Amino acid sequence: MSDKHDAFQVSIDLMRKADLPEILAIERESFSAPWTEAMFINELDCAHAQCLSARINFGKKSVLAAYIIFWIVADEVHLHNLAVKKEFRRQNLALNLLKTMEDIAKQIGIRAQTLEVRQSNKAAIKLYEKLGFVVKGRRPNYYTDTKEDAIIMWADVK
Ligand SMILES: CC(C)(COP(=O)(O)OP(=O)(O)OC[C@H]1O[C@@H](n2cnc3c(N)ncnc32)[C@H](O)[C@@H]1OP(=O)(O)O)[C@@H](O)C(=O)NCCC(=O)NCCS
Repeated sequence: MSDKHDAFQVSIDLMRKADLPEILAIERESFSAPWTEAMFINELDCAHAQCLSARINFGKKSVLAAYIIFWIVADEVHLHNLAVKKEFRRQNLALNLLKTMEDIAKQIGIRAQTLEVRQSNKAAIKLYEKLGFVVKGRRPNYYTDTKEDAIIMWADVK
């Protein structure tokens, strides 16, 4: 998979174990309770999980700039993880990864997509709203580090 980005070439591919050092660096700069390497390996080994990474290509070199992990469960797609390297944010990388998730869901006949997000994560909530996600519920004290509520959002696969 690849698409021409505004200013640079972005390619979206299946995540590999060799990507994990770059992914873990993004994970640690992105979350207060980052996933461990073992958690990523579990996802890579899981039959339900789709793990994709987005690379920015500069000539023969590339930088891993973003990743997404989602599960196909019955007739729903569940977003599990999404992060963009700080220096590449606000360049539609997350938007493109979420559209790729939706395209994959559509191709296999899935009709609904869902996710959980910290109520304080205004950037992510704005992003999801832009793609048509709406708030359908809340899990009180869901995040163990801050006791924050999780907002549950759903969108139709279009
Ligand atoms: C949330 C996150 C994934 C967004 O990634 P991104 O690649 O910068 O987002 P995009 O460039 O695709 O943004 C698309 C739209 O989402 C909204 N958005 C994204 N970041 C935003 C921000 N910081 N503030 C307000 N709106 C924002 C905007 O509507 C934006 O469109 P615009 O730039 O034309 O205004 C990124 O900030 C990140 O990695 N955060 C830390 C990890 C995280 O919170 N992951 C989500 C967990 S649920």
